[in-house]
Amino acid sequence: MAARLKLIRLALFGSPVSRSLSPRIHGQFARQSGIEIEYRAVESTAGALAGHLQEMAAEGARGCNITVPLKHRACELATRLSARARQAGAVNTLRFDREDEWFGDNTDGAGLLRDLRANLDIPVEGRRVLVLGAGGAACGILYDLMQQQPAQLVLANRTREKADGLAGRFCHIGHLQSAAFSDLERLSPFDLVLNATSAGHQGKLPPLTATLFAPASVCYDLNYGMAHEVLAQWCAEHGIACHDGLGMLVEQAAESFLLWTGQRPDTLPVIEALKPGAQR
Ligand code: ATR
Repeated sequence: MAARLKLIRLALFGSPVSRSLSPRIHGQFARQSGIEIEYRAVESTAGALAGHLQEMAAEGARGCNITVPLKHRACELATRLSARARQAGAVNTLRFDREDEWFGDNTDGAGLLRDLRANLDIPVEGRRVLVLGAGGAACGILYDLMQQQPAQLVLANRTREKADGLAGRFCHIGHLQSAAFSDLERLSPFDLVLNATSAGHQGKLPPLTATLFAPASVCYDLNYGMAHEVLAQWCAEHGIACHDGLGMLVEQAAESFLLWTGQRPDTLPVIEALKPGAQR
């Protein structure tokens, strides 16, 4: 009889986490890889996170994912950081190398780039790229975007000062121009527009105009599901190619899974299975 594989214990901490797709995604990766995992979604707070992590590490867990609003707190608690996590000041993946050695990484930007380049064939290098939003979502992708050396990278936010502040933190890596939304007509067109605002969660659009886009330009929304619908509708009305962030969600999870298990899962069937209307 084959020896029973050791169970890999993992979890997601954040709030709210009850509707997170991560347990399902990692469950599919594990089945593909023939690995047995336990992946729990746990409500936590900035005050409770250290205790939750200590408990998990002491129980021999392999690691965890961290989601909003705890990515900054997880960055403080990690004992070692990847360059991209340190730069973002945010951790979405922890690996417990020993009970008291917690490696913190941020796989959001790598997940985005893998979806853009490997799945959608959308290049970033040498292109004119616009990031809308200067909150947590934007912060997690800037490092990896800048590594690709776009011809132009503009960070625009409704609150201009937040774009200036975030750009100031990244400007030593390369050229990143901060802007107000009202500057964008002058700076356009862009080859790739990334929506990293949370406007879609309120059923709203970031202030887009068709003139931001050249004929072959693409819009990529870091949101998915209901939060993507208004932007998808606007792009359809204006004949602009638009992608949601489901691929990024699965790809950032795959980067975490690789970090914990050493195995890179096959993401395409997992992305397909999550699309609206796919058979469960
Ligand atoms: P997240 O973690 O999703 O990035 P966040 O850190 O709260 O959430 O950031 C939300 C981002 O969406 C911010 O850039 C916010 O702009 P402000 O800094 O001006 O608040 C942006 N945002 C939210 N609602 C928006 C709207 N209706 N139009 C444009 N930008 C919006």
